Amino acid sequence: MPAPDESGAALLQFTPEQAVAVAELHSRCFAVSWTAADFHRFAALAAYPGVTAWLGERLIGFVVLSVIEPEAEILTLCIDKELRGRRFASAMLTRLIEDAAAQGVETLFLEVGVRNEPARALYTRHGFIEAGRRTGYYRTDRGAEDAIVMRLSLPGPMRAARGS
Ligand SMILES: CC(C)(COP(=O)(O)OP(=O)(O)OC[C@H]1O[C@@H](n2cnc3c(N)ncnc32)[C@H](O)[C@@H]1OP(=O)(O)O)[C@@H](O)C(=O)NCCC(=O)NCCS
Repeated sequence: MPAPDESGAALLQFTPEQAVAVAELHSRCFAVSWTAADFHRFAALAAYPGVTAWLGERLIGFVVLSVIEPEAEILTLCIDKELRGRRFASAMLTRLIEDAAAQGVETLFLEVGVRNEPARALYTRHGFIEAGRRTGYYRTDRGAEDAIVMRLSLPGPMRAARGS
C-alpha cells in the first residue's frame, strides 16, 4: 500500500480488482446502484479509469472516469458518508486531474445535480465551469432534478509534467 497523500488517504489507480468494493460503496452513496460488473467494465476499458482512496484496507472513496480521447467524463465520485468534509474528495480530484492531463486528456466533463451543493462547490473549487444544463436529468425522491454540465480544460501533458 503506498504512503498516504497529505489528506491522509492512500490514493490508488482504480483497477478491475477493486470493482466489488467500489460497487458496495457506490450502493451506499447513491439511490441508483451500479453493479460490480459495471465497475469491472469501466476499470478494464480505460487506460486511466480513475482513483480510489483508502484508509488502510478500507475503501473510503472513488472517482471513476470514462475516457474518449481527447476528452474524458467523470462518471461517478463519492466519499463514504462519515468521512466527508476532510478533503478526501479534493485529494482524489487533484490526483485525477494531474493524471488525466499527463495521459493527454484535454477536457474533463461531468454532470452534477443543481441541488447538489457540496459537489458543485467541490468542482468549482477545482476550476470546473458550467458548460450547459440538462433538464430533468436525474429522477430523485423529490422528483426530477436538472443537471449542470461542467467542464475543465486541462493544461496538456508537457505543461502538466513541468507543473506549470
Ligand atoms: C461531494 C463529495 C464527494 C465531497 O466529498 P468531501 O470529501 O466531503 O469533500 P472535501 O472535504 O474534499 O471538500 C472539498 C471542497 O468541496 C466543497 N464541499 C465539500 N462538502 C461541502 C459541503 N457540505 N457544503 C459546501 N461545500 C462543500 C468545498 O468547496 C470544499 O472545499 P473547502 O473545504 O476548502 O471549503 C461528498 O459530499 C459525497 O460523496 N457526496 C455524495 C455523492 C455525490 O454527490 N457525488 C457527486 C456526484 S456528481
